[in-house]
Amino acid sequence: MTQFTGIRRDGHRPRLLDAFCCQGGAGMGYYRAGFEVTGVDVTAQPRYPLGFHQGDAIEFIRTFGTGFDFVHASPPCQFDSDCQRIQGNTHPDLIAPTRAALNATGRPWVMENVRGALPKLRNPVLLCGAMFGLATYRHRYFETGGGFTLPQPPHPAHTAPQAKMGRPVPPGHYGQYVGNFSGVPQARSVMDVPWMNRDGIRECIPPAYTQWIATQYLTTCGRAAA
Ligand SMILES: C[S@@+](CC[C@H](N)C(=O)[O-])C[C@H]1O[C@@H](n2cnc3c(N)ncnc32)[C@H](O)[C@@H]1O
Repeated sequence: MTQFTGIRRDGHRPRLLDAFCCQGGAGMGYYRAGFEVTGVDVTAQPRYPLGFHQGDAIEFIRTFGTGFDFVHASPPCQFDSDCQRIQGNTHPDLIAPTRAALNATGRPWVMENVRGALPKLRNPVLLCGAMFGLATYRHRYFETGGGFTLPQPPHPAHTAPQAKMGRPVPPGHYGQYVGNFSGVPQARSVMDVPWMNRDGIRECIPPAYTQWIATQYLTTCGRAAA
């Protein structure tokens, strides 16, 4: 791991560790809710818009996690995605080691993943773009721990038809921005991630999801951290 020079202190904002941060969809939601955010990714992320450290996320959580008020982790989902399963993937499964590292911090935490990981997630809450008025469904599942829990919001019916995966989005349809998808400018607008390129968008959580999670934290555990 490269040297980590310390958690930035920005007034009295609660501190959020954004582990496996990629280009920062998750991190931006916490930032918008009022957190001071540090992202960690094993790959350099020049588009990450907040404080960033390059390194192994599990090692970072274990070494520095106790210095944060709340930890979010998005271990890579390729191991569990349908297309990777078909292709026969070689990605390591990081869900169990990430959970162990999160629990070792003693801090409240959230770990996010995709539908294919459901058998490995414990009592996850489903978030869908329709819950936030986004023109994409992008289901993601959120396990919580360290004393933090989330309510399951009502799941609105999927009334708009979906474009085919990765294909241009016909009028009145919702996009599925996966793989080498068409329409980066549209996807940026739909998910409110104007700083991202295609690589980041295909991986990201829309910031609206984590802004909601952050608000749940701030109204339950958060006052103790301020
Ligand atoms: C699903 S993406 C995260 C998306 C992000 N939460 C967002 O909303 O934009 C997973 C990220 O994990 C990173 N990654 C994979 N293995 C890692 C490791 N051992 N330590 C840190 N980052 C890792 C990948 O480089 C990738 O950027």
